[in-house]
Amino acid sequence: MPEGHVTGFDLSEVFLDKARQTAVEQNCTNADFVQGDVYNLPFEDDTFNVVHTHQAVCHFHEQVKAIKELLRVIKPGGVLCMREADSDTVRFWPPQPLLDECFEMIRAVQRANGGSPDAGIKLKHCTVEAGVPRDKIEFTAGDFVYHTREQTEAFGMTWPGRVTQGALADKAVEMGFATRERLEE
Ligand SMILES: C[S@@+](CC[C@H](N)C(=O)[O-])C[C@H]1O[C@@H](n2cnc3c(N)ncnc32)[C@H](O)[C@@H]1O
Repeated sequence: MPEGHVTGFDLSEVFLDKARQTAVEQNCTNADFVQGDVYNLPFEDDTFNVVHTHQAVCHFHEQVKAIKELLRVIKPGGVLCMREADSDTVRFWPPQPLLDECFEMIRAVQRANGGSPDAGIKLKHCTVEAGVPRDKIEFTAGDFVYHTREQTEAFGMTWPGRVTQGALADKAVEMGFATRERLEE
């Protein structure tokens, strides 16, 4: 989007630093990055043409309140676009106990934090609750099937690394859903 401007927003400075670094590596000069909480966005009413969230609503404990706040900062006629998974439907065949364990841990931490691993299936309902008329909502769903060696490796091999370190791993240990020894195995 060479003529536009993108503001990246997240609660976590760790994620924001990664995004800033990626922007520098890709010579992206029309983006800035702001830290804050979705329930109290540091932006004026009617600021953005488009607000896009990706895999974020599943972490919010008050989803309707968050969506209302996202709507507040969109200009009249603008678009709110949200993309969420329903991770209850993630399945593997042949059985992959290690990946099942990773996803169980992610879902347990999300639920214990008040989030919803199945946010995808609930998005329309939450958006209606947030005050958007039904005829203004487009709701679609899709699925991914990973079957080539490249696809299964790209998907499967990232998860153990993603769940065994960082804030998620710390939370899982703190909440008793994993032990440090198991994560290090
Ligand atoms: C699964 S990550 C997705 C990150 C990014 N959107 C992506 O798709 O790669 C979920 C993100 O939601 C952020 N998050 C969780 N609760 C938040 C809140 N209350 N306000 C803002 N961001 C929040 C987390 O810090 C995390 O970076």
